[in-house]
Parts: sequence; C-alpha cells; structure tokens
Amino acid sequence: MRKRILILGLILVVIISAVAFSGCKPEEEEVELTTVQLAAAEQAELDIVYATDIHVMEADTEINDYQHPEFMAREFDCQKMNFISEAIFETFCDDVIASGKKIVLIGGDLTERGTELSHQRVAESLDRMKEHGIQTYVVPGNHDLYTTGAKAYRYTSEGPVLIPKATEEKFAEIYADYGYGPNSIRYEDTLSYVTNINSKYVLIGVDNVSRLVDRSLVEWIAEQAESAFFAGKTPILMMHKPLGERFTGLYETLGVSVSGQFTVSEGTLAYMKKSLAEAGLTYILTGHVHSNDVMLVPSGHKPGGVEKNLIDIMGNCTSFYDSTYREIRFTQNYVDLTLKHISVPKEEHLPSYLEAEDKNQILNNWREFSLEFGKRDFIENLDSTLQEIPAIFAEFALGIDLNSPEIPAETIISYAQEVLLDYVLEVPIYEEDMTEEDSTSVETLAKAYGFSGSFPDTDYKNIFDIVTEIIFKAVCAGEAEYRQGAPELELIKYGLYGLIANLAEHDFFAFVSLYVEGLEVEDTQDVITAMYSTGVLDLMDANILDNILSLGLLSASDNPILSALSGKSASEILSILIPFLPSINALLKADLLDFMPLDPLAAEEALSGELNFGALIENYFYTVIGKGILFDPYTQTQDFVISRSDFTVYPK
Ligand SMILES: [Fe+2]
Repeated sequence: MRKRILILGLILVVIISAVAFSGCKPEEEEVELTTVQLAAAEQAELDIVYATDIHVMEADTEINDYQHPEFMAREFDCQKMNFISEAIFETFCDDVIASGKKIVLIGGDLTERGTELSHQRVAESLDRMKEHGIQTYVVPGNHDLYTTGAKAYRYTSEGPVLIPKATEEKFAEIYADYGYGPNSIRYEDTLSYVTNINSKYVLIGVDNVSRLVDRSLVEWIAEQAESAFFAGKTPILMMHKPLGERFTGLYETLGVSVSGQFTVSEGTLAYMKKSLAEAGLTYILTGHVHSNDVMLVPSGHKPGGVEKNLIDIMGNCTSFYDSTYREIRFTQNYVDLTLKHISVPKEEHLPSYLEAEDKNQILNNWREFSLEFGKRDFIENLDSTLQEIPAIFAEFALGIDLNSPEIPAETIISYAQEVLLDYVLEVPIYEEDMTEEDSTSVETLAKAYGFSGSFPDTDYKNIFDIVTEIIFKAVCAGEAEYRQGAPELELIKYGLYGLIANLAEHDFFAFVSLYVEGLEVEDTQDVITAMYSTGVLDLMDANILDNILSLGLLSASDNPILSALSGKSASEILSILIPFLPSINALLKADLLDFMPLDPLAAEEALSGELNFGALIENYFYTVIGKGILFDPYTQTQDFVISRSDFTVYPK
C-alpha cells in the first residue's frame, strides 16, 4: 500500500513538473541563429590572412647596431619599432603557420627602406611559410622601391653606408613566387597584376605607389574585375594606398587628407570608384595610413537608384602598437573579419644587439613596451614642431616681431612656453599627482574657479598623455572608441577649460598689454567661474573679445575675411557676422547659433557673444571634427561580419 502511494506520488510529481515546465520551456524550440553565428556556420569560399605595412629592416647587416646615433636619428621614426620589425614579422609567420591558414595577402611596405637585403629577408620568411603550404601574395608600398621613399643605409662603426634599394625588376624577381610569377598576368611592365587565388576568387594586385593611378590603369583594373565577375568569380583588389578618405571629420571640416591625395588625382578618383563598382568590384585591401579601419566608400554607381558602396579594409602596421593583422573569411553571404594580435616576439627571433633591459621588457611586458615606445617616439618627432609654438604665438597671435630690438623675445617665448607647452605636456591632471616642481594641476585650476564636481578617476598624467593614448588606441590599433562621456573626453574638456584658466592665472591680457596697444584689462574671475559651472564663456564680459581682437591675430592674417574684421569692435563683429551665417555654417559643417545664440536684447540682430564652449567641445570638436578618429560609425568594433547583400555590419 505504502509502495503504491509512493508510486502515485512520483507520477504526480512527474505530471506536475511536466505541466509546469511546459509553460516556460517548450520542447524542441528552434534556436534562432544570430547573423554572426550564421556566418561562422557557412563554409568559407576564401579564407585569408591580411597583413600590411610590415616594414621589415634586416637586423644583422642592415641595422647592425640599434643604438647607433644615426640609426636612432633616422629610423626611430613614425612610432614603428623598426629595430625589431624582422622579429615581429618572423613571429607573425609562426602564428600563421600555427593557425592552419593557407593564404596570406600583404598590402605593401614590406620593408622600411626598400633595400634588396630586407626584401630578400622578407622573401625568406615567405619561403618558410610556403614550406607549410601557405601561399602569399604581395604588392609594393611607398617604402619598397628605389623610386619611392628615402635613401637606405647600413649602420656600421665607420658611419652609415648607402646600400642599394630594389628596382621594380628586382622586386618582381624577389617576389616571383608571391604574385609576380607565371601564374599572374602583369599590367604592361608594371608591378600591377591579376591572378586566381582559388577557383572562386581573383586577386588584382595594384602598384599605386611608384605611379599614380591614371585612367588607363583604372580601365585595366575594371576589365580584370569585370571578366572575373562574368566568370562567376569575386574580384578582390589589393593596393597599398587606400581608396577611401580616412578621418572623415578632419577631411570634411579642415580639408586635411591623409589617405587619398597621393593615390590618384581628384578627377580620376571619382572615375575610379565608379568604374570599379560598375565592374562588380566591392572589396579593397589597403594599408599605408597605419590604422585599423574599415570604410564604406560611396562609389557614385547607382544601379536602380541605390548607390553601391565599396569596402576599403585597411590595416595597421605590424611593427606599430599593437602589432595586428586580420583573418578574413569570405563565405557565400558574408565577409567575416577578426582582428588578431601577433604573439609576443619570440626570443629566438630577437636581434642579438638588443640591450638586456629592452629584451626583458619585450618578452615580459610586450604591449606596454610597444605603447610606451610609440608615445615616446611620437613626442620626440613632435618635439621640434612643438618648440616652434612659442615663437608662432608671439609673431602671429600677438603680431609681435620678435626680431625687433626693443622686444624682449626671450621673455615672450618663455611666457608662451609656460602657459601653453608646459601646461599641455607637463602640468598634472590630478592634484594628488603634483610634485614640488608643479605650480598647479588641471584639477587645482578647476577648484580655483569654483568647480565642485569630481574628475573621472584615471591613470593619465597630463593632457598630452591622454591625446597620445587616444591616437594609438583609437586611430592606429582601432581597439578603443571615445564617445561623449568617455573619461578621456571629459578630461580633455576640463583640460581646455584649464588652458583658459591657466592663461588667466598668468595674467594673460596684462602681459600682452605690455607689448600690444588697445587692451583694457579687467578681472576675468567671474567669467571663467561661469564657464566651469555652465560651459558658457561670455566673450563680451571683461572685454575678452575686444582684447582678443586687439591681439594682432586678425591684422596678421592672410585670410581676406579675417583681416577685413581687423579694427572692428566686438559688438560690431557680432552683428556683422549675421548675414554670413549660412556660409560660416557651411564652412563649420554645423550651426554657429548652436554654440553662440542671437542676443535677445540687441535692437538689431547680433550674436550674443556667449560662447557655449562646453557644447562646442562636446558636440562639435568630438563629433564633427573627430568623426572617424574618436569613433567610427562603420565598424564600431574590429571583429564583425558584413552582409554581402546589403553591407550591414554585425559586431561579433
Ligand atoms: Fe607603412
């Protein structure tokens, strides 16, 4: 009886459980795969490794001595770790061999100085991969040929000795197995070629460094792409210099071009984008800018009214922080990208000349070593330019001729050094980081003007520290994004407020009035206090704008609009600008009234002179000028899948 009750109870439990669970967890529910999972599940039609800008310098003979003063002066350049670039590339080859991938593409700047010696060294490494069944294809970069880049030297105890750079013929000979052999068709006698990478994909390798891309080369590329397309194959273009304009904000607002200007002339560029898209080409692998970035490039080709994009996949330099390359899988429906970090350079590949401390750091603290090397080299390269700033300030901002005998040039330069350069490069951000040598900090300045909030807690030392880290992590490595509210951007905002406060602390206008006539100096304490609390800087208060206009900034300017404003009072200028608002806005790519509204009390329309400096930094500086630098609207992450039908990006 007891047994029967037990069995009945058990059945009841099972029934109740079944009913209870059936409500929340239906049996055999189909799990919907995400796009990323779908892409991973699809078989790859083409599975490649893409690296670029490896900048190899043969260590034993060409470098010989990395502490050689001439080597340090010439080759510690552009933040590349040239002194271990060979070891980094060898480690890359080890990583590829271990990964099992069988196709490698390298987008140029194979060497640092284009010497035959370094090219031979690269080819030996490619031979080593070939022994493991890995086929590599290369194109030249602007560092690779005798026609491009600087002279090449060996660094001997007798001094640097010139060594030969590769001719185009030599380049093709050295890389005969890597794109320049009988399986490729060359365009005339150039280093551009076309070859089948596998049964479904065609590689068009283009030399866009030793010659500009002209219409005839564009037509050749388009023909190759078109015939691949009609044969049911996918054409892929690889060329060193990118097609898309990198750092869109800088280009659109300030006209600064770092990508395209030397690749192809303006007229041919538009023709090229359209022709390539019409010919069925979509994917372009590039380098040169040393930046991990993927851009959608509008082509101008609009089949059915919808503009087709080209996809420019750019890579960072491997001997640059933080030594990356990409794995790219092309499946029938997706392009699947993964950013890979090259392993810590292996000890066996490191050159014998390395000092113990550097070697130890490389082996045990690799990423920090490469970041610190990059930052140090960056500031050393900038140093001569930075040292010019005080003199530029004196001559152009103040309109003072430093060569004039009655002007105490030394006093003015050391003043500018202190209020501008030292502030950015040396003044600590946090009060607690101040040493006896520091007279202030960004935080101390803020507190002096009534700031009662708190600074984001970070390890940054000074403003320059933040700026360089943004450059390396966002621009080069592409591993970080800085959007509004990020601690780095908050601190830069307070840093800029602090720059103004620091000028006030150093009695800027009183100092200038010793040399420039017409200034009326008033206390700016309240104006700056208001800036810290509301972000708004009232330029009409304390004669700030009138004093700025007296500086000589305008009269010294070559710009006809700026020099026409010279001699006008602040209130005159604020009303004069109204009719020009549309053109000013077009120039700024923003609405000036968002940052300086109209004055509600002015009888006639005039700008108020209340500059919303905080909003200008956050909404204009970061978002408009920083577009493509601080954050990238296309990629958002370095690991993502692109749909081949509509180019939608799916972060992994
Ligand atoms: Fe490069």
